[in-house]
Amino acid sequence: MKKKKEKSGKAKTALQSPKGMRDILPEEQPFWEKTRKAAADIADFYNFSRIDTPILEFSDIFEKAVGEATDIVEKQMFVLRTKGGDRLALRPEGTAGIMRAYFEHGLSRLSQPLKLYYLGPMFRYEHPQAGRHRQFHQVGFEIIGSEDAIYDIQIILATTRFLEELKIKNQVIQINSIGCKKCRPGYRKKLQDYYQSQKNKICDDCRRRLEINPLRLLDCKSEKCAEIKGRAPTTVDYLCVACRTHFKSVLEYFDDLNLPYILNSHLVRGLDYYNRTVFEIFTDGSDIALAGGGRYDYLGAILGARQKEVFAVGSALGMERIVETMKAQNLGGPAKSRPKIFLVQIGEAAKKRTLLLMEEFKKSDIKVIEAFGKESFKSQLKAADKERALLSLIMGQREVFEDSVIIRNMQTGVQETVPLNKAVEEAKKRLKNSH
Ligand code: HAM
Repeated sequence: MKKKKEKSGKAKTALQSPKGMRDILPEEQPFWEKTRKAAADIADFYNFSRIDTPILEFSDIFEKAVGEATDIVEKQMFVLRTKGGDRLALRPEGTAGIMRAYFEHGLSRLSQPLKLYYLGPMFRYEHPQAGRHRQFHQVGFEIIGSEDAIYDIQIILATTRFLEELKIKNQVIQINSIGCKKCRPGYRKKLQDYYQSQKNKICDDCRRRLEINPLRLLDCKSEKCAEIKGRAPTTVDYLCVACRTHFKSVLEYFDDLNLPYILNSHLVRGLDYYNRTVFEIFTDGSDIALAGGGRYDYLGAILGARQKEVFAVGSALGMERIVETMKAQNLGGPAKSRPKIFLVQIGEAAKKRTLLLMEEFKKSDIKVIEAFGKESFKSQLKAADKERALLSLIMGQREVFEDSVIIRNMQTGVQETVPLNKAVEEAKKRLKNSH
């Protein structure tokens, strides 16, 4: 059944999801529900409003925003051409689309800074492996419209508190500053000169990076380059006064909050739109980032909507990675609340009546569970036990005839017959008494 020829696209349709894209089955849903709820709670607390942007955007939005020489744009975008000739991409991340929406809808007219959060699927054509999928989900937080370092820390706080809300232990926040338009060129030159002098010792990828995107040199994971990278010049040593002051304020906030961090002078991030603060959050001992983000003051100008900067800072967390971490740390999802009433029906006429009775409970917002697929009384009572129902409402031929229903207390086995039109009220009363 396996689909083998991914490249040619000619393989027969197999009954399996595309590579790197997975189903989230009911048993895993409680973790996802918990994650979505924590995101909404944190957003609510820090006053972020929800935004949803399309999954498809014009591909040049990402080419400009994320950067043409990045892995995401060079190798990982799912791009398609519409019948009308538009070139669209499945979004590899959320920030570029949000900045597009910010301009398109004139959101700068609203009170600034504007705090937005989102949640949804992203797509990157990656080599699937642990924590790396082709379709994955992000929760993201963005603050647009302020240069103040207090918002850098607020983004980091929202991100780390979100993980804390999920009880994720051993978080490690790594942080760096990569400077601005003024100071970065000087640093880039130093880095380039340094790597140029090591050119015959570095990996092929780094040789390419050296030509097209030198900051990416610090992203290299190859053993061969580790030592060279270790001795490379660091961004923080080349920050201009304004960037140094900004970064100092961010670090002071960390101290004020007693929030531990690691200064990682090699952290540059895989997207080109960042300046100044960049950060990633891991759990101790893992090199798979749960979250990443930073400041992106030039993205507005890059997208061509303004000449001037639109100050902004944000972060995104990978939901698959969060769910995996929750499982590894034994942080179970919330138990689905169980209905306390089980509807038992014997015979066709009773089944129909039970369907109507179920709608009566719906009107009163009381959860019930049925087993329309089961016929025997015994198997239905067994199912009611398994669901740990407190009451069973039993309808047989006689009850249909008499317009009544039997209420059985599942703990004591005591049964009483009540008029059908009083069923909801009587069941409610008994549930109340059982508390
Ligand atoms: P990113 O670091 O590319 O940043 O992604 C953020 C998080 O998404 C990662 O830390 C990781 O948890 C998750 N993630 C990324 N790629 C994958 C994948 N292939 N499979 C599973 N999880 C993945 C951004 O996307 C930026 N837009 C963040 C941001 C928001 N910066 C400013 N505002």
